[in-house]
Amino acid sequence: MTTRTSLRLGASLLVIATSSLASAGGVVLQPKAGAPLDGLSQVQIDRFWGGRISYATPFTPANGLGPIMNKSNCQSCHSNPVGGWGSIGVTRFGTENKGEFIPLEELGGSLLQALSISDECRENLPPEATVTATRMTNSSMAFGLIEAIPDGDIAAHEDPLDADGDGISGRVHWVLPLESSPTSPLRAGRFGWKAQVATVLTFSADATRNELGVTNALITTENAPNGDAALLGACDTAADPEDHADETGFTYIERVTHFQRYLAQPPQTPKAGMTGETVFNSIGCAKCHIAEWTTVNSKSLEGALRGKTIRPYSDFLLHDMGFLGDGVQDGDANEQEIRTPTLWNLRTRDPMLHNGSVSGGVFADRVSAAIAAHGPIGEGAASAAAFSKLTTAQRAQLIAFLDSLGRVEFDFNGNGSVDIEDLHVLASYRGATGVTADSAAAIGDLDRNGTIGQVDVNGFLAAAARDGLDPTADCDGDGIVDFVEIYNGSPDADFNGVPDDCVVCPADLDHNGQVGAADIAILLNNWGAPGQGDLDHNGITNAVDIALLLGNWGPCH
Ligand code: HEC
Ligand code: HEC
Repeated sequence: MTTRTSLRLGASLLVIATSSLASAGGVVLQPKAGAPLDGLSQVQIDRFWGGRISYATPFTPANGLGPIMNKSNCQSCHSNPVGGWGSIGVTRFGTENKGEFIPLEELGGSLLQALSISDECRENLPPEATVTATRMTNSSMAFGLIEAIPDGDIAAHEDPLDADGDGISGRVHWVLPLESSPTSPLRAGRFGWKAQVATVLTFSADATRNELGVTNALITTENAPNGDAALLGACDTAADPEDHADETGFTYIERVTHFQRYLAQPPQTPKAGMTGETVFNSIGCAKCHIAEWTTVNSKSLEGALRGKTIRPYSDFLLHDMGFLGDGVQDGDANEQEIRTPTLWNLRTRDPMLHNGSVSGGVFADRVSAAIAAHGPIGEGAASAAAFSKLTTAQRAQLIAFLDSLGRVEFDFNGNGSVDIEDLHVLASYRGATGVTADSAAAIGDLDRNGTIGQVDVNGFLAAAARDGLDPTADCDGDGIVDFVEIYNGSPDADFNGVPDDCVVCPADLDHNGQVGAADIAILLNNWGAPGQGDLDHNGITNAVDIALLLGNWGPCH
């Protein structure tokens, strides 16, 4: 009975707590990777969640899956988080003639579909394929925002002839979106390892057809297994296009586009000012991994996407990456060229690089190996060499900076969510001053005022609520919630988020450690009213409360 009451109380307090605390002191928590953008309308939020369901729902042969495909839904590959990168790769194949890539389209190239709806319909890697390359699943975080970067702003960073002589000559991959008329101007590609796509809708249509085998309004014909039209005729039963509008009025490719366009940019904690970023800039990383972009301020865009500053750390340009080239020509991108990937949420990425060649170990190992792979030839060579000459301290600073990309505020232990261990770390910094972006405490300095104080504690409570903890729990009912008591120094040796010395004795109205006659007197004083003595919190002090009090008679324990 008591538990139920306090749970109910807790729930209503929680609502107040999260809405008022999330903006405590005017400071708002950054969305987590995989969450929707801030500032969406309710209609848009509904489309985000509806699209996310479509993204995760498997197709079946009856509604269009296959006949050849790589998976039955998007989420199987884009899994960390949903819409993010994944550890599954796909295979590209082709052959080569005088150094030129031939995609072997007549044999089903260049993308291999490794699965099929039945054995007879399989696509196999043909013996003619002398070139094969693996491409890892990369992520769709903040794709509405990236889509909204003006073409001209990307093109402004091109330097195809390396006029400034710095060894870096990125270029735009100009492409035509599938939804554009053939005569419309080309757009600056930005999505895919070869920047081969400019819009989210085009990528969605392409992936729906090529990864799932589902034909749609933008790609109406099926992939034939190894290019065999007769086999396709025998295997494919669903009529094309297989993608239709559902009860929302949107087709599948439109629904998954909603989801990806409304994904927020992953957090960066601390937000700015780390020495490691200065190192990053000084050794030339930022020449390709450009930190900041602003989306177009156009009325035709949703408010949540318009005129926003984002920090993806990419120039979205193609670079000759030397040995990292994959040998595959993709549109206008040649065999050596790879597009600079975004670095947000890098901290959780395993494996790294387009082919997944760097995997395992701790974050610092993977990052160091990925950077080393930028050399010894190609446009990344100079910065890879500069990295190898850094002092141990500078290297640690650079890695700490890269580790801030995707880190959730207050997530000191870096496991992706705010938990009791993080509360203990925050408590160890209580009242700390002189906190800089390089201090370990900076992860908890939400308002970036250099001290760990009230706004930060309130922020922690909001972050904890977002991750499913109950920041309103108050075991001794003294009006100070447990997390704040622990922050203030109450021991919590078992890390359960409840102070170890908590005395649960609600009937001890005079707080003398005993339930006795004095408490009955207080209760009777309040007879018929809410407040002290109303032990079941039903708004009136009455016989039920006396019974509760008598049931707890004697010393508290
Ligand atoms: C079999 C695994 C797999 C499945 C299933 C899959 N993808 Fe992908 N996705 C990838 C790979 C691999 C890449 C990188 C492709 C490339 O650059 O050539 C990618 C890239 C993307 C990108 C560009 C990401 C970037 O950072 O540039 C988008 C957008 C995308 N996929 C959307 C989808 C959608 C939508 C679906 C479902 C209709 C889907 N994917 C299904 C593996 C998959
Ligand atoms: C010439 C442009 C360029 C420069 C300079 C450059 N990078 Fe890169 N970076 C790239 C490209 C292109 C890739 C993708 C290579 C691949 O996957 O094969 C990449 C990949 C990475 C990755 C792996 C990302 C992932 O998602 O797998 C990391 C980490 C990285 N770069 C960090 C750095 C750092 C740190 C520096 C400075 C030492 C640096 N880069 C300098 C272009 C550049």
